[in-house]
Amino acid sequence: MAREFSTVGVVGLGTMGAGIVEVFARNGIDVVAVEISEPALERGRATLTASTDRAVAKGKLAAADRDALHERVHFAVGLPALHSVDLVIEAVPEHLDLKQRIFAELDRVCRPEAILATNTSSLSVTEISVATTRPNQVIGIHFFNPAPVMKLVEVVRTVVTSPEVVADVEALCARLGKVDVTINDRAGFIANALLFGYLNHAVAMAESHYAAREDIDAAMKLGCGLPMGPLALMDLIGLDTAYEILDTMYRRGGRDRRHAPVPLLKQMVTAGLLGRKSGRGFYTYERPGSPVVVPDEATPPATEAALADGARAIAKVGVVGSGTMATGIIEVFAKAGYEVVSVTRGAEKSAKVCEAVKTSLNKGVVRGKLAEADRDAALGRISWSATLDHLADVDLVVEAVVEELSVKKALFASLDEICKPGVVLATTTSSLPVIDVAMATQRPADVVGLHFFNPAPVMPLVEVVRTIRTSPEATATARAVCAALGKTGVVCGDRSGFIVNALLFPYLNDAVRMLEASYSTADDIDHAMKLGCGYPMGPFELLDVVGLDVALAIQRELYLELREPGFAPAPLLEHLVTAGYLGRKTRRGFRDHSHR
Ligand SMILES: NC(=O)c1ccc[n+]([C@@H]2O[C@H](COP(=O)([O-])OP(=O)(O)OC[C@H]3O[C@@H](n4cnc5c(N)ncnc54)[C@H](O)[C@@H]3O)[C@@H](O)[C@H]2O)c1
Repeated sequence: MAREFSTVGVVGLGTMGAGIVEVFARNGIDVVAVEISEPALERGRATLTASTDRAVAKGKLAAADRDALHERVHFAVGLPALHSVDLVIEAVPEHLDLKQRIFAELDRVCRPEAILATNTSSLSVTEISVATTRPNQVIGIHFFNPAPVMKLVEVVRTVVTSPEVVADVEALCARLGKVDVTINDRAGFIANALLFGYLNHAVAMAESHYAAREDIDAAMKLGCGLPMGPLALMDLIGLDTAYEILDTMYRRGGRDRRHAPVPLLKQMVTAGLLGRKSGRGFYTYERPGSPVVVPDEATPPATEAALADGARAIAKVGVVGSGTMATGIIEVFAKAGYEVVSVTRGAEKSAKVCEAVKTSLNKGVVRGKLAEADRDAALGRISWSATLDHLADVDLVVEAVVEELSVKKALFASLDEICKPGVVLATTTSSLPVIDVAMATQRPADVVGLHFFNPAPVMPLVEVVRTIRTSPEATATARAVCAALGKTGVVCGDRSGFIVNALLFPYLNDAVRMLEASYSTADDIDHAMKLGCGYPMGPFELLDVVGLDVALAIQRELYLELREPGFAPAPLLEHLVTAGYLGRKTRRGFRDHSHR
């Protein structure tokens, strides 16, 4: 029989604690909510009230249920109020000495059979447990932010946590409507171990002005379907908490440099820029605690104003290539009203591309997304050619030929001879340095990267890559074109992986390492990222879709360019590729797809 939890205590009513109180009270459990002082207690109460009022306003909670929920919560200053609870969850700031002090006191005030749990994200549950005389009743219950919304709970057992306590806590999670993964005590557990290297890397991109905060966030939202961008997520987590988590993970997790907090973080924390809770972090919020972002001095001007900023007029566009990307890009431009010249290496290839564009446009018509007349108009705007000479009068060229530097360089040298002055020359490369291609011409200031995502007609993101020679006008033109295509163009520097791949693939590689180390299973890791962080797919699902060979090639590039030891491809990834297990396309990758 699982243990009955009728009253639980929550210590610390900050970002996490207030949410945890709500989770319990919503599920009919009485809560003793404890803070360090009266003002802190009032803040915690206000957070709970605001959150439940929002739920009522959104129609997710009946007003009567809200009132009942509040009646279940008893607020108090000081730990002695917890003398008769069945379970305590501690959610005070991420400092080991503070948590150890609190656990020592909890051990004194709580009933001997009470379970003592910590919501720590990165500290050792074992080290916290030895501050008590009952380490076998100490466990980690790691909720995700915002606790009332996120489904996942990581249950962390130490080597001394009793199996009955683990089972009781698992049953409790089920009662709360949460999905739990039970794991051993390791820095960052599953989700944070995979998340924080990525978050820190995104902060480094912002710090080095590699890309603007809005662009970094838009890239990950639109390119990967994440619920929020990394910098907005840092603001939600709290920069002080994030700093402490990174610092602990660096020290506990093998001194991986990727976890060494980026200096900007410490500066922001010192300056009181803690994220949403202080009203200002990477973004500025309406007021402390508010999720509403308001413009500040770093907010880019509205699109139209920015576009006036030297962007050149584009009416006619050349697209070179005959593969998947070229085909999609031709369709995108033609649909948006541009005159398009498609250049392939022969009439046969042109006929194939033309057929593919027609098929895709027809699908739009069948699905009711495109009028027949618009389809015909789009097709009428495209002319088909097998010679670059027809690009003499276009305003923009988008190159999407094979991913080989020598081929692209030769092509750009030819374009340089053929195209009129002032044309913007764009490459869709996803892995080659744009500057190499630019220097094959006499006009590197006019060369940019336009990294479309596959399938181009569907994906809303384009990475606009500017090299150290790209002119502001060429960048502005590229951005304006993206907007005219109905896509979001994000501007970044010319580094391996640009924004999306540089942030995404090391995370996938880390997941493979975690599996390789037998810390958890592919299913639990996928669950953790989907239910704890709102990712649309878990890392192993995504790797099987992307292709393990593709992932390995990108990861190798990143490693070679940045020489970051943590970016070295996971041996398991290399072995699977060698074995021919490339994912869905070979019916086997991390999972067996032969029966699906
Ligand atoms: N922020 C997140 O996204 C997140 C997610 C999961 C887990 N966590 C973990 O949850 C814990 C709390 O983090 P947070 O972000 O909520 O921090 P926070 O700074 O928002 O809140 C901490 C609260 O603890 C209170 N406190 C401090 N000393 C206390 C004491 N002696 N007695 C009672 N209350 C005290 C503070 O007044 C404050 O309200 C940390 O261990 C953190 O790693 C955070």
